[in-house]
Amino acid sequence: MATKRVIEVLPGANAVTRRAAALIEAVGEDSASRGDPSTLGTLDTLVLAGGNTPRRVYEHLVKSNAEFVQARLRDLDAEDTQVYGPPFLYAHVFLGDERCVAPEHERSNVGMTRACLLEPLGYAEEQIHLPVGAGEDPQKAAREYEREIHRAFASNWEVRARVEQIVRGDALDGPVPPPDPERWERFDLIMLGLGEDGHTASLFPGSPALEETGRWVVATEHPETGETRLSLTYPCLARARRILFVATGAGKAEAVRRTLEPTPDETPTPAARVTCPNGEILFLLDDAAASGLSDDLRNGTPQEPEA
Ligand code: 6PG
Repeated sequence: MATKRVIEVLPGANAVTRRAAALIEAVGEDSASRGDPSTLGTLDTLVLAGGNTPRRVYEHLVKSNAEFVQARLRDLDAEDTQVYGPPFLYAHVFLGDERCVAPEHERSNVGMTRACLLEPLGYAEEQIHLPVGAGEDPQKAAREYEREIHRAFASNWEVRARVEQIVRGDALDGPVPPPDPERWERFDLIMLGLGEDGHTASLFPGSPALEETGRWVVATEHPETGETRLSLTYPCLARARRILFVATGAGKAEAVRRTLEPTPDETPTPAARVTCPNGEILFLLDDAAASGLSDDLRNGTPQEPEA
């Protein structure tokens, strides 16, 4: 199935931050309000990204949910304050990539997302599913994180399976048939940054990780520093309902152009190879990051899905 790409060019980095935050705050709204049996029992899921552009989105989310944060800091029971906060605060949260360092290390995406979003907004540990980058064996850490992702989705499989029985009108007695992971291991929103070399998550140009077709998490290396990392792969990213790229600043203009409007002789960037067959890829760009694009693309002419 082709991937639908949408480009939004906004006037400045702050507008990109606000728009990205609003899209994250919408996670869980539709499944909560839609009442569609096919989403009952599914987890609301959000995949965070590392980097400064995503971090600004997290900081904005904490500010815009200050009332909920204050109530939590006062440790008031939500019943008393009627401050439950929007559904995204109850989503299950994952991370697109981690540097292989301890969470306390200044380069850790786990440390950054916990400090900038998860702790201030009071996410419970049972909602949080993050890779463990520090350790001797990055390949083993990659396999363990992949297991953690499947465990998270399986955590409510019985609810999901019972709902599927109800939706099908099956009798509810007897054993619960295993539900279909293909249908319900989906990420509502995956946020991704874009590097100046066109990398995303920790999928770097020329990396063997770009050719992974089965595993959802692999160990990779930064091409210049050799830093070991863990990254979600294209097969995992393809399980999103929406992928949200955020890129701002003139420094990203060439990476954006090469990702969205490559010349025939240019190798597709790692970001260009991300697909979302069951949803859409939204590029949130400020004017500076979009400055290398053609007028058509900058003005939001929907891109013809790839053949
Ligand atoms: C990482 C990120 C990486 C990042 C981009 C954009 O761990 O570095 O996952 O993919 O999102 O490099 O980072 P900036 O927003 O800081 O430019």
